[in-house]
Amino acid sequence: MDAANIVDVVSDFVTLRRAGANLKGLCPFHDDRTPSFMVSPSKNICKCFACGEGGTPVHFIMKHEQLSYPDALRYLAKKYHIEIKERELSDEEKAEQSERESLFIVNEWANEWFQQQMNDTVDGRAIGLAYFRQRGFRDDLIKKFQLGFCPDKYDAQWKAGKEAGYNEEFLLKTGLCIRNEQGKTYDRFRNRVIFPIHTISGKVVGFGGRVLDSRTKGVQVKYQNSPESIIYSKKRELYGLFFAKKAIVQQDLCYLVEGYTDVMAMHQQGVENVVASSGTALTHEQIRAIHRFTENIVVIYDGDAAGIKASQRGIDMLLAEGMTVKLLLLPDGDDPDSFARKHTAEDYQKYLAEHQVDFIQFKTNLLLEEAQGDPIKLSRLTGNIVQSLAVIPDEITRTFYIKETSQMLSVEERIITTAVGKVRKQLREERQREAARQQGQSATSETSRPSTGGYNNVAQTDVPPQTENTEPVLTAEEEAVLAGIIPESKPATPSAINLQTKRQKDDELFLQTEQLLIQMIIRHGEKVMCNIKDQDGTERPITVVEYINLSLMDDELKLQSPLHQRILDEALEHYWEEGFRCDRYFENHPDLTIAELATELAHEKETLSKIHNKGIPIKPEEERLGELIPHLMGDYKLAVVDRELRKLMELISSPEVMADKERSIEVMKRYQDIKHVQSQLGRMRGDRVLT
Ligand code: CTP
Ligand code: MN
Repeated sequence: MDAANIVDVVSDFVTLRRAGANLKGLCPFHDDRTPSFMVSPSKNICKCFACGEGGTPVHFIMKHEQLSYPDALRYLAKKYHIEIKERELSDEEKAEQSERESLFIVNEWANEWFQQQMNDTVDGRAIGLAYFRQRGFRDDLIKKFQLGFCPDKYDAQWKAGKEAGYNEEFLLKTGLCIRNEQGKTYDRFRNRVIFPIHTISGKVVGFGGRVLDSRTKGVQVKYQNSPESIIYSKKRELYGLFFAKKAIVQQDLCYLVEGYTDVMAMHQQGVENVVASSGTALTHEQIRAIHRFTENIVVIYDGDAAGIKASQRGIDMLLAEGMTVKLLLLPDGDDPDSFARKHTAEDYQKYLAEHQVDFIQFKTNLLLEEAQGDPIKLSRLTGNIVQSLAVIPDEITRTFYIKETSQMLSVEERIITTAVGKVRKQLREERQREAARQQGQSATSETSRPSTGGYNNVAQTDVPPQTENTEPVLTAEEEAVLAGIIPESKPATPSAINLQTKRQKDDELFLQTEQLLIQMIIRHGEKVMCNIKDQDGTERPITVVEYINLSLMDDELKLQSPLHQRILDEALEHYWEEGFRCDRYFENHPDLTIAELATELAHEKETLSKIHNKGIPIKPEEERLGELIPHLMGDYKLAVVDRELRKLMELISSPEVMADKERSIEVMKRYQDIKHVQSQLGRMRGDRVLT
């Protein structure tokens, strides 16, 4: 990371010109007309002011070359001729890795063999190649997708594999060959044409083999696929992603289809940003894989209603992941492959562009048709759309779709907003219950234990609820409409709502206070801030991260946000290493959430302490750590105490505690204990300010 110079790295892909202290060029991540891409040699980062993409040299390479974090590091290491020493693996890891490698090697061989069987044998050409050609696939595509053929012999591949020196174990573990109970071994894919399945980086993890007969009903399984193995999981792979990733990024859009042949047919028609879920329900892993490359997805359906209904869940999963989802229905009975054969490339692309509609329009049209004006069905339809709206994480996007739904269904916007709010609340409560269940017994109320006078535990309790708009209050008629939409929900009382929002605001403020500590760790974690006396009286220098950690431990506190706690833990793990710098470490962190937070916090303007700014020029933060950090720590502890007091206050005034005398005395006692802690903390701060 020290070697990687941002100007150097970006210049390999973008022509840069000087612009003051920085450099400028056309952004490689969007269709840029004026140079919006800024490179800052001093900060060693880049950023596009139009589309927002950018980051450290590592991020730039990850995004530009579509590489994983480790691969981006390898790329940079190669560029700067740095040898990477990878960690020595444990024996178990070595065994597993070597098994994985062996399976990949066998698959690679098999992939070559299938292709060679198809292209270089009489049967292969007459049967396999002829099959693909007769289906209308061009030779260049057959080659690009590395299609192949497995001859109609009992164990041709088994024999060939052994002859070529491959271990029997791996021929079986990849699933290429199968051994039956009688101990006889035969080829899984015999007499089938072969579609190899590639990982994102292009390695072959498995195969799909199709029977040659076009009339497959009841005769044979149409597709035989590689079985699950340590390298292949059907849930994880998306067919075609390797061939599509570049086009997906360029067009910032991904088409999702069902089958192998659909992907090929679309490529043949010039549409390369397409992947297939291979006939299974979409999984989270698959969605994440797409999301790495784009937020925009168009799901293509081959017009049968059953399939569309079944895919509802998939669509809600895409929405919940924060993707923008559009849908496209092909005319009667066509799939993307058969449709391709009836149209020119130009018509095909035009059809795709003109017929994709957002999921609201799609659902509404589909369901309106089905409901035929029946009011009960109509209300169910609205409920169905509300469910989808409710999972959209981004508030602005959600509001936008709510507007659209209200127009399409001629229902007042506020009603839908309320309905969505309620479903969100239900979902949130479900999540909380789920979280509580997972935490198990540790969630038993702390106030039911005798008070220790301290305030440990405070910071570990409940996850802050997501921020949410205040729900509007509805009239009786509106409530009635709503009741039809979501029958089971009870309307929340306004006072409960206010309390809820107030609590959320407080939680946010609290997390901001906590974040100030994290900011200090990121900017200065490894730096010495002052000397402290050890137990035996000797003085020793202490770093920022050590100080923060000791100070938290003094009061048995943990950071509230798991993300913050993780940053602290990792800083503690490394701060003592020679040359280690927290800013560099976290800005380049493989977890992008951490990397982004760190980049933001590291480059924010220095927070100036108001108390110490009395017309005197302020020294840079770095020279004031000795006073600044204890000050922030004090703020934080006061915030922890305030928060705990607030919670106890709520508890005291809750009906169940009020009804239980013993319990309410207990809570009151704890309240007073903590009040005491609060005043002590305040006094300590006062002392320090005076000196
Ligand atoms: N599929 C499968 N096993 C089956 C049937 C289907 O794994 N027995 C998967 C395959 O990945 C297939 C996809 O589901 O590509 C979609 O199935 P289908 O639409 O039936 O097949 P097509 O891809 O259209 O194949 P073809 O055009 O050759 O019939
Ligand atoms: Mn088909």
